[in-house]
Amino acid sequence: MVSLKPQIYILDFGSQYTHLIARRIRQLNVYSEIKLPTVSIDEIKDAKGIILSGGPASVYDKTAIKYNPEIFKLNVPILGLCYGQQLMAQALGGKVSPGEVKEYGFAELEIEKKKTSNKKQGKKGSRKGKKAENGKKSILFAGLKDTEIVWMSHGDYVSKLPKGFEAIGGTKDCKAAAFENRKEKMYGLQFHPEVTHTPNGMKIIENFVKICKAKKNWTMHNYLKQAIEEIRQKVGKRNVFMLISGGVDSTVAFSLLNKALGSSRVYGLNIDNGFLRLNEAEWIVKKMRSLGYANFHQVDAGYEFLDAVRGITDPEQKRKIIGKVFIEVQRKVLQSLKLNHDDWLLGQGTIYPDTIETQGTKHADLIKTHHNRVEIIQKMIKEGKVIEPLMHLYKDEVRELGKELKLPDELIWRQPFPGPGLAVRVLCAKKASSIKNINKVNKTLNVIGRFHEVTGFVVPIKSVGVQGDNRTYRHPAVIIGNSSWDTLFKASGDFTNKIREINRAIFLLYPGKIDPKRVKIKETYLTKQRLDLLRKVTEIVDMTVKQKRVGRRIWQFPVVLAPISLKGGESIILRPVYSKEAMTAEFAKIPWPVVKLIVKKIMNVKGIDAVFYDVTNKPPATIEWE
Ligand code: XMP
Repeated sequence: MVSLKPQIYILDFGSQYTHLIARRIRQLNVYSEIKLPTVSIDEIKDAKGIILSGGPASVYDKTAIKYNPEIFKLNVPILGLCYGQQLMAQALGGKVSPGEVKEYGFAELEIEKKKTSNKKQGKKGSRKGKKAENGKKSILFAGLKDTEIVWMSHGDYVSKLPKGFEAIGGTKDCKAAAFENRKEKMYGLQFHPEVTHTPNGMKIIENFVKICKAKKNWTMHNYLKQAIEEIRQKVGKRNVFMLISGGVDSTVAFSLLNKALGSSRVYGLNIDNGFLRLNEAEWIVKKMRSLGYANFHQVDAGYEFLDAVRGITDPEQKRKIIGKVFIEVQRKVLQSLKLNHDDWLLGQGTIYPDTIETQGTKHADLIKTHHNRVEIIQKMIKEGKVIEPLMHLYKDEVRELGKELKLPDELIWRQPFPGPGLAVRVLCAKKASSIKNINKVNKTLNVIGRFHEVTGFVVPIKSVGVQGDNRTYRHPAVIIGNSSWDTLFKASGDFTNKIREINRAIFLLYPGKIDPKRVKIKETYLTKQRLDLLRKVTEIVDMTVKQKRVGRRIWQFPVVLAPISLKGGESIILRPVYSKEAMTAEFAKIPWPVVKLIVKKIMNVKGIDAVFYDVTNKPPATIEWE
């Protein structure tokens, strides 16, 4: 029996890339987990290595993140990245200073090769150390060229190395962009090897994994065997009641529970919350039946959900209410089934990023509470009443597990769909949200726009975004004019980087022109009528993408209904994205003839005044608007 234990822990200092670090290590079949920097030594004492993530704070002022200094005494290899590098330097006696310029973007890293022998170090150094002095790079950089492109994003820098450390690479503006204490196996990098913008970053991470001598046993084949054992142990003699949305995660979790416990001990319930896409509720029943799951049931609770969110406009409040109603409906079903409460656990398809996003990294701003993590569920988790067999997995790992479980591709490769469904894609507003200095913002927009041969204006509604390492709730800018993807990419980047009030850019597809003075924000709530309107448009988009076969690369294609009104109707925003794990995303560039066809079809839908295309990456925007 394999025993999968985390080999490398990542301590999260608030970087938006923390999950990427964990993913990269898992891609090397090494099990890694994320912990808070205040983690107890007991919890991580079996680690083969530790990585300190980046983060937005400064190590020398009051923004510094609290951490457990004992980590440096664990006697395992440690790799500090960006903030983590600076923390390592400061904690061990070096110095960190504010840089004169904030370095952001690509840089050339000159990798040091020790040619002249340093006697003092030579005497103390290991055999490997001596070899390096004869012209070898650090083993962290084994297999790399003498100069490498790396991705930097920092204001502070290490101005003095701690005793026993030496630089192993530097850039034009950062002499100690990489350093090591070879004897202690401690390494620091000012740049981010985990992002794809550092082309050979994966090689560096692989070298670190080798230095750690970490076990390479993280495969979904092994996970399946272990998960079955663990489920049986945790559930004991009880049974599992599981909510199934029909999405990848809950379907895989349900299938796994069936395999571990047998179908007579698992009750699958799909709650039709009224926020599903056209005909989706029927589709799910059909699929589950075809897989032979007679223990799958469905209940129609559309009216209860709609009633609960009546008059609500705040997205976070909406999410919390929906989460609560899910539980209430589930309780009612349980009561009607007369199941003894103590004999049943609640099963959920929660995956790893969801658990971390809501409560894992306490210093990260909270804007979205995941519906699997609302208060009642948190309470049940504490009471040991919840089982989440996928809570250690990333999305692509869930898909791999689905393959191990022999689920059909059609289910495994469905686009992700949020639990609250179309409810988070029907934007609501009581009135226009105020924008400070709106005239000045519009003026700046047009000054910047001129460089890109576009015009624009800011819209008084808000959507969620992520800028730097923080979540934002800011306004979108409309872009009008030049429709080359390259121009839109650059203009969108400039607007969101340079104008504080803006976190998204949407390109106007229809009508050809808009007079900003005529734009009204309509008082709108979550109603069946608006949901039906969005269902109709979503169906048009999905069908066209399918017919024209342009959906293969698209990770997810949200279609959003926004109360931006020109002639008394509303607006549609197309939001197709490419992504790998939804942690970062790139707006998708669908062939223009297909975009035009979609617009032509939507234009004919009654109640739609305008159509936009979201041209923002994540960051600075999130995939969904709420
Ligand atoms: P964002 O919008 O944060 O979304 O870039 C990342 C991924 O998560 C999905 N998402 C949700 N899924 N409940 C869910 O089950 C939610 O409340 C929720 N919010 C966002 C989103 O569709 C994307 O795949």
